[in-house]
Amino acid sequence: MNAEKRSFTLGGFSSDVVFYDSVSPLNISNASLVVCDSNTEHIVESCGGAAHAHRLVLSPGESEKSMPVLESILHAGVEHGLSRGDTIVGIGGGVITDLVGFAASVYMRGCHLVLAPTSLLAMVDAAFGGKTGINFAGYKNMVGTFYPAAEVHVAPSVLASLPELEFHSGLGETIKNALLGDEGLVELLEREHGAIVARSPEVLSEVIRRGLLVKCRIVEQDLTETGVRAYLNLGHTFAHALESVAGFGVWTHGEAVAWGTVRAARLGEVLGITPTAYRERIERLFAGYGFRLHAEASHEKLIEAMWHDKKLKDGRLFFVVQSGVGQTQLVPVEAEILHKVLRD
Ligand code: GLY
Repeated sequence: MNAEKRSFTLGGFSSDVVFYDSVSPLNISNASLVVCDSNTEHIVESCGGAAHAHRLVLSPGESEKSMPVLESILHAGVEHGLSRGDTIVGIGGGVITDLVGFAASVYMRGCHLVLAPTSLLAMVDAAFGGKTGINFAGYKNMVGTFYPAAEVHVAPSVLASLPELEFHSGLGETIKNALLGDEGLVELLEREHGAIVARSPEVLSEVIRRGLLVKCRIVEQDLTETGVRAYLNLGHTFAHALESVAGFGVWTHGEAVAWGTVRAARLGEVLGITPTAYRERIERLFAGYGFRLHAEASHEKLIEAMWHDKKLKDGRLFFVVQSGVGQTQLVPVEAEILHKVLRD
């Protein structure tokens, strides 16, 4: 197996990312308990020593991010006699990585955590950076911790069986990460469209590696989101509002992020921060990958939903906007400007 290990220090935690080459299967040797779901169990079967560890198989889906399911993981730890030095491994998409990360962070006040993301979205976003959580009282990610995994194993070969809709959703976050800090990756995404949508192993591996490294560099500076980590929310205030107004599941998260990032570019343009040519470049990039740039949703409802977004500070809405690739800032915005941006 060819793999490249990159080590990061996140707020006192050490977190290694192991980038596999495009064809190698996952290989995790040290595991006491593996948590996966019924969609990712086949990956566990061919993943080295972890295939023989105790295993808990959950149902797939967002509804698993709940207190009872969290408890079931903790119970499995107790039942199998796991101690603090033992390793809990999560193999799956963002639901599994958030949930298993949370369980590992509270089991005996924190045991060894290894994550292997199996969706594009989890590879470039959810699995790295220590955000863990469950949904609670009707709110997404309401309860959780910052607990970076000691190791994140990124094996692009596991994406071969990822459904198209999920792959497309992951591309939305990948493009957003590229805009936040890698001009070369933006150019690669523009140039290699055909190879990327065909999931060419080599090109896709490079896209994932660079997309995740943008996030690694940001989180390394700010684990707990007191500053620059908020930039990772580019497009997300718009996206969360759309997801909630349209009804969860109507737009995938990545599609909503794509639409939201285009809206954020238009907002930046209206504010005189984003050059028109850069806004047009962002629109071309997302449209080229088949993302919808327009949403049929009431502006009033969208703006109302934004007021409920957790990035509300001092009674004002703050948005992430850009003047170019890697040139990002957080700005307060008045509701009337939002009306204009949603209308355009
Ligand atoms: N998904 C955004 C973050 O990890 O901060």
